[in-house]
Amino acid sequence: MSSDSTVDRQEKYQLFVDGEHVDAENNGTFDVNDPATTDVIAEVARGREADIEYAVDAANAALDDWRRTNPKARSETLRDIAVALRANVETLAQLTTLENGKPISEARGEAEGCADAFDFYAGIADKVHGEQIPRGREYVDFTYREPLGVTAHIAPWNFPLSIFARSVAVALATGNTAVVKPAEQTPLGALTIAKIAHEAGLPDGALNVVTGFGAEAGAPLAGHPNIDCVTFTGSVETGRKVAELAAQQITPANLELGGKGPNVVFPDADMDLALDNAVAGLFTMVSGQCCSAGSRLLVHEDIYDEFLDNLADRLDALEVGPGSEDPDMGPMIDEGQYEKVKSYLDVGRKEVGEPFYGGEVLDREGYFIGPTVFAGASNDSRLAQEEIFGPILPAISFSDEQEAIEKANDTEFGLTAGIFTADLNRAHRFARDVEAGGVYINEWFAEGIETPFGGFKKSGIGREKSTEAVKHYTQSKNVCANIGIGE
Ligand code: NAI
Ligand code: MG
Repeated sequence: MSSDSTVDRQEKYQLFVDGEHVDAENNGTFDVNDPATTDVIAEVARGREADIEYAVDAANAALDDWRRTNPKARSETLRDIAVALRANVETLAQLTTLENGKPISEARGEAEGCADAFDFYAGIADKVHGEQIPRGREYVDFTYREPLGVTAHIAPWNFPLSIFARSVAVALATGNTAVVKPAEQTPLGALTIAKIAHEAGLPDGALNVVTGFGAEAGAPLAGHPNIDCVTFTGSVETGRKVAELAAQQITPANLELGGKGPNVVFPDADMDLALDNAVAGLFTMVSGQCCSAGSRLLVHEDIYDEFLDNLADRLDALEVGPGSEDPDMGPMIDEGQYEKVKSYLDVGRKEVGEPFYGGEVLDREGYFIGPTVFAGASNDSRLAQEEIFGPILPAISFSDEQEAIEKANDTEFGLTAGIFTADLNRAHRFARDVEAGGVYINEWFAEGIETPFGGFKKSGIGREKSTEAVKHYTQSKNVCANIGIGE
């Protein structure tokens, strides 16, 4: 850990509200576990409705000053936060590996990405432009883009730093204040970012973190009458509940939900590249617990057998183990996720028989499942249609471009899709026709904080990241003045 760190791990964590660490109102706590060992790593305040109330009040009280802060000053504060986050990358990464289980190199990349998000939106804070609208000489008409107000952020556990950062940074940059409910599995990173941001100069109450469970803290936050925008990332099922709660208050909801990304490989692709990306697109990104993963492999029939044989060789080389040892794959996040993913080994065995590769859980403490491929899956199997959220890949064959696109689109999800081919025209035909918010050509996860991210179909509503996200955290106000010409 860096010696200048201000955020070394503690044994107990409180809520972070109004610039202070506070206990939950009823003094409740819950344990956070290391998924690699199941050991308790911290005792964390268990926020409930009263704590949400307190945090929303604090965010509301901070709103007027923050929204009226000169945009350049807001930008400087966000830049200072980015610098402070960067100085603490190692500590943030260690915390993330501890609570999430992901390999430490991946966690370092995520912590860097968290700082990048604050940098990117620091650059946006003074560029939130309105429009001038021509209504003839008699009028002056223009729009402001104003903050929505108090924003709620309900986050998942798979990217505890970067999912927090991408929505909170844009919300703050555009003059909103925020209340975050991190996932109960991974509250330490969120609390630590909030502390770092406050120490870097963010005013009291601008960013509050209430830790706790979904039904106890997430639901009262999503349905709170003084919340002006809800951003949720997680399952479709919970997203629907959050959207229903928000709808009661006519609160806009940004939903980043599941995915079943088709990874389509043509015979003319660079095979090493396609194989590397089949591995990176699912197995080694937080062990497949990733909504934008390439979780459905579609391979042309001419190369199907050879591709799978080569994929198996690559999977042989993967190390599975505790994230602190920097393996290729860490554990599942918790017992529930472990049991869910394990159940798909049975689903697959029923649907297509023995796995082509893997199919084993590791005989050791912690929630480890080895990389698994089921060959010969049909696109309408449960393996191919349901979000498994783990290192289990169904492989499906296709015979031509038409069939590839039909299969790619035959899913209720539409988050990401990828194609591997040397034929540029084909790649762009695919990009045109595929139903997905993000298309990757010859590189899975080809995206950044600069690019919009979000889903078609049941994968969600709204877009995170990029300048496009600014729209979702602001509202336009039209001002029309009759300037007296023609009187
Ligand atoms: P979840 O969607 O239930 O949890 C995500 C967040 O929502 C957490 O902060 C949780 O506390 C909160 N939450 C839960 N119930 C809530 C409610 N009624 N009102 C408000 N907030 C609530 O996801 P979970 O249970 O952790 O995982 C289940 C499945 O969801 C996974 O197996 C995976 O398929 C999917 N998932 C997808 C993610 C994505 O990035 N798209 C992230 C996490 C899970
Ligand atoms: Mg849940």
